[in-house]
Amino acid sequence: LPIVAVVPAAGVGSRMRSAFPKQYLTIAGKTILEHSIAALLCHAAVARVIVSISPDDGYFNDLPLANDPRIQVVFGGAQRADSVFAGLKAATDAEWVLVHDAARPCLHQEDLSQLLALRHTSRVGGILAAPVRDTMKRAEAGDGCAIAHTVDREALWHALTPQFFPRELLMMCLERALNEGANVTDEASALEYCGYHPLLVSGRSDNIKVTRPEDFALAEFYLSQRT
Ligand code: CTP
Ligand code: MG
Repeated sequence: LPIVAVVPAAGVGSRMRSAFPKQYLTIAGKTILEHSIAALLCHAAVARVIVSISPDDGYFNDLPLANDPRIQVVFGGAQRADSVFAGLKAATDAEWVLVHDAARPCLHQEDLSQLLALRHTSRVGGILAAPVRDTMKRAEAGDGCAIAHTVDREALWHALTPQFFPRELLMMCLERALNEGANVTDEASALEYCGYHPLLVSGRSDNIKVTRPEDFALAEFYLSQRT
């Protein structure tokens, strides 16, 4: 059975403060969304990509990849999880699904391969993640200005994407988490909410999400380092 990737690209990019959604900003002649999709379709194991765009999107259809037969479009929703769920519904032929942020253009093939290997070793799936490098502090309750204590950094990871799960398991967990109003900021958190423990696959820290204006220059630099 094929592996299908869902790319949530229905966000407005409010923190980026750009004139149009950040996934449509251009780096080296291609939009951030196109870089993100290309990194997935480059991999031999990935059969198709389902892109979840806003019903108000006025940009996607002008991209060359809008005519690529391996790419399908669905309409996303108000929250990232809604957009992901819409994509998952369309991935009917997939046993395992990747979910990858449109705003993460610097994914490397080796990381993707490492993550995809989980389908041979796990029934639950997992995510790319990068170890936390700064010393981490927990703030005291109240105004949050005083340090309560230092949190053990060894156990802390940044959750990245792609995230990779059996489709039916992910849909079941997302549906329950959304129905019960759980705080679901990535796919793994939906599985965690349902009592599963997805695996952490250590990935490169340059797989950044373009979130704020300063991230754009960083993504531009990382992509320029490629041959
Ligand atoms: N996303 C989505 N549907 C939403 C919200 C977000 O498909 N309702 C997508 C974004 O397009 C992005 C990814 O989820 O590719 C990660 O979200 P984020 O970085 O938060 O993007 P935005 O929500 O667009 O940005 P912001 O939170 O700053 O508004
Ligand atoms: Mg957001």
